[in-house]
Amino acid sequence: MGAKPRSLSGIKPTGTPHLGNYLGMIKPAIQLQKTHETFYFIADYHALTSTRDPEKLREYTNDLTAIFAALGMDFENHAFFRQSDIPEVTELTWILSCITSKGMMERAHAYKDAISKEQDVSMGLFCYPVLMACDILIYDSNFVPVGQDQRQHLEITRDLAIRFNHLYGDALVVPEAIIAEDVATIPGLDGRKMSKSYGNIIPLFASEKQFRKAIMKITTDSKSVDEAKDPEACSVFALFKCFADKADQEALAERYRAGDMGYGEAKQLCFEKLNAELHEPREIYQQIRNDQAKLDGILESGRDKARVIARQVTDRVRNKVGL
Ligand code: ADP
Ligand code: TRP
Repeated sequence: MGAKPRSLSGIKPTGTPHLGNYLGMIKPAIQLQKTHETFYFIADYHALTSTRDPEKLREYTNDLTAIFAALGMDFENHAFFRQSDIPEVTELTWILSCITSKGMMERAHAYKDAISKEQDVSMGLFCYPVLMACDILIYDSNFVPVGQDQRQHLEITRDLAIRFNHLYGDALVVPEAIIAEDVATIPGLDGRKMSKSYGNIIPLFASEKQFRKAIMKITTDSKSVDEAKDPEACSVFALFKCFADKADQEALAERYRAGDMGYGEAKQLCFEKLNAELHEPREIYQQIRNDQAKLDGILESGRDKARVIARQVTDRVRNKVGL
């Protein structure tokens, strides 16, 4: 592998991938292939903190592999793999757990959220940020493209790398997050953050008919066609904006403000704009999704590339700590 900076990211196989995942993580991650060496993986160890269904776990793993293939990930020159195919990451997690303060984990958003809802907290959920830090550090990653909601995890990762280097001498690369501010949080059908856990998603690769139907279901206020509308307060416009160029954005915003557009028409325009970008990848996705041998081959070749680096970094760390 060459002298390009390395970009790494992960996504959990815990549900049907949606437009929020696409805009917040998958699309920017794939674009980075031009300028970076990229390592992307399916975070199946992390998925175990919330999933107890082995069949679904395998199904969503296949979905994600086919999605990255359909969107143009170049598997020859970059690595796409399963987190659990690199068991070294669990060893590194143990080593870094020993320099992680419990207080820092108690301040993590996901943990605090679970506590405030009086949910049962497993050790897996509590230690989630350490495993995530190791996912990043074990590949000497320079950049990590993620959605806004992962910012704190990246701060924890940097803290742990700096702390390790301070205690044992330089061994870990301190990574930087790449967060696209303009697509920071994509709203779902009900206006809240689009998320598998809220049941408000627009699936990335449903059939064209289901895709259109989902867009038609986006919640809006009850303003009539000729009332002036605020584009910035509308989820349909928020989605349109992520797929349209500046001129199209401005034209639609102008019609909203002038009271020259009903939400039905806006939704239809939104569907057309999104479908223009996603139509072709959807077809490729449908072809690849059932080709199990191809999907397995992609993950095996990614595993072989990732494991070489993971072993080097783990050995470096073992050596530093005296193992
Ligand atoms: P979910 O909330 O649906 O469970 P994940 O937590 O699996 O999604 O997120 C996978 C990736 O997609 C992360 O990088 C996350 O920041 C990004 N992401 C998820 N939902 C959104 C959203 N609504 N807007 C922008 N990015 C998102
Ligand atoms: N926590 C991330 C999410 O919920 C998934 C993830 C696990 C990840 N390990 C990672 C993302 C390492 C970036 C880098 O979306």
